[in-house]
Amino acid sequence: MDTNGEITLAASDVTASGTRVDEKTVNEALREKTTTTAENEDTKNRMDANNFSSGAAAKGTSYSTNCPFKFTPAGSFGVNTPEEVAAYYDNWAGTYDEWTKYCGYNGPQYLTDLVKRYCRTTDLILIVGVGTGLEAQLLFDSGYRQMHGVDGSIEMLNRAKTKGHLLELIHEFLQPNARSSIESHRYDTMLCVGCFVPGGLDERHVDDLLRTLKPGGISIIGTRETFINDPGEAFNYPYSLESKLKQLEQAGAITLLDRVRKEHYGDNSVGVFFIHRVNHS
Ligand SMILES: C[S@@+](CC[C@H](N)C(=O)[O-])C[C@H]1O[C@@H](n2cnc3c(N)ncnc32)[C@H](O)[C@@H]1O
Repeated sequence: MDTNGEITLAASDVTASGTRVDEKTVNEALREKTTTTAENEDTKNRMDANNFSSGAAAKGTSYSTNCPFKFTPAGSFGVNTPEEVAAYYDNWAGTYDEWTKYCGYNGPQYLTDLVKRYCRTTDLILIVGVGTGLEAQLLFDSGYRQMHGVDGSIEMLNRAKTKGHLLELIHEFLQPNARSSIESHRYDTMLCVGCFVPGGLDERHVDDLLRTLKPGGISIIGTRETFINDPGEAFNYPYSLESKLKQLEQAGAITLLDRVRKEHYGDNSVGVFFIHRVNHS
C-alpha cells in the first residue's frame, strides 16, 4: 500500500486466485468494454435505467418503492450473459455509491454488523461481488484489514481499488455450477451481499463460494427477501438460495448459526442474511 492508502500492484502480478487488478488489466478491460457496449446499444440503453444521470426508462419489472431511481435487476430484462452483466455493472459503477445513499441501501452496514458479531478482525476475508467496496470500507473502519475482493465488473473493482481497503482484487466472473480460480479452503470468512439477484449469483454458485472457506470458516450471505426463493414470473430467476442452503445443512456440510431478517435493507425492501459455519474438512 502506498502513502495515499492505494494498493499498488505490478503489471505482471497475476495470482492463482485470478487476475489481480492492475493498470494493464484495467486498460485492457476498458478497451474490451468499449467494443462490447458499442456493439450492443440496446443493452446499454436498458442498463442506463440504473444510471440516475439518465432518464431512460427500464423495461421489465422494478421493485423499488420510495427510491426515485429505479433499480431493475439485470436478469429481469434479459441481461444474462457474463459479458452483458459485467457491462451492466460497469455502466453503473460511476453512480453506484450515490445511488445507494439516495435509495437507503443498508446491505453493507447490516453485513458489517454481523461480521463484527461472528468474525475476528484478524480473519482473512473474501468479499464476493465486492462492487465498489462499500462493505470493505465499513469493515476497514471497524478494524478489519485482511480483505480480498472478487467481482466480474472491472469498473466496480476499479472504484474499490481507489479506496484502498482491499489487499487483493480479483477480476473474475463467477460461473454457475463451475469452479472459479479462487483457492480452496483459503479464507476464514466469505461475505456476499447484494449479489444473489437476477443476472447475478444464484444457488448454483453456492458450492463454489463455500469451497473457498477453511473448515470452521464463516459464510455470510445477504440479499433481498424477494430473492432468497424463486420470486416467480416477474423475474427471470428460478432459483432458491434458501433451499440450497437447507440441503447443505441437512447433509451436514454447513451449520446455520443465524438467519437475520432486516427491514429497510434498501428503499424499504426487506433483507435476509444467512450466517453459516462450514464443516467440510
Ligand atoms: C449490486 S452489486 C453489490 C456490490 C456490493 N456487494 C454492495 O453491496 O454494495 C453486485 C455486484 O456483484 C457483481 N457480480 C454479479 N454477478 C457476478 C458474477 N457472476 N461473478 C462476479 N461478480 C458478479 C457485480 O459486478 C456487482 O459489482
